[in-house]
Amino acid sequence: MTDASRLIPVITIDGPSASGKGTVAALVAQALGFHYLDSGALYRVTALAARDAGISLEDETSLSELAANLDLAFRDGECYLDGRSVGDRIRSEAAGGDASRIAALPALRAALLARQRAFRQSPGLVTDGRDMGTVVFPGAQVKVYLTASVEERARRRYNQLIEKGLPANLDDLLMDLRQRDARDASRATAPMRQAADAHALDTTGLTVGQAMDAVLGWYAQANAKTVTE
Ligand code: CDP
Repeated sequence: MTDASRLIPVITIDGPSASGKGTVAALVAQALGFHYLDSGALYRVTALAARDAGISLEDETSLSELAANLDLAFRDGECYLDGRSVGDRIRSEAAGGDASRIAALPALRAALLARQRAFRQSPGLVTDGRDMGTVVFPGAQVKVYLTASVEERARRRYNQLIEKGLPANLDDLLMDLRQRDARDASRATAPMRQAADAHALDTTGLTVGQAMDAVLGWYAQANAKTVTE
């Protein structure tokens, strides 16, 4: 990281699957005019590209090489692989499960690190994932750990899938979420956990607007502190 990029503000929003962190992060980025990085999309696209190329999801070396060389672009909330839009393909539950499997591989995570840090560009970055505050941007100005009860998260994911016209079953989603939480929290490398200096935000009874306001409030507080220090 250069000294100049250290000055560019970063807000990290980590938390379990379907906690609403992506929605909140995108809205906070919009409100502040910052860039937005959905780090989970990188894991999802890598898994998709591996499937397309016939690479085993256990082949750590090939997956890492693939991740380091992916031709990837994000424009207007859409994700492009080799110039083709892959938004729908990476959003399925199967793609999320594949992403969670390869996300346990240390060499693959290392291969994605520089790519993620390159998103720290002026005037600022809002990013969401599992290890944004703990590993990728440990010096972030504001760190948030966003949660919600597993039942609430299953309901949200169900509604999201139905809205997109994708198949969904509430019981299956609940089971998948529990499995994914356990895998993401128990892996040895960059497990999902709250950074010591993160604000915890339980969104179970909150609207998206209330969650967004809480994050914006913490950012304003952090700025006020920097100015008075
Ligand atoms: O939308 P959802 O929270 O279900 O998933 P996502 O954020 O797109 O992430 C998909 C999977 O990628 C997660 O289950 C994690 O295993 C992995 N991931 C990760 O390990 N580290 C990140 N920073 C982001 C995602």
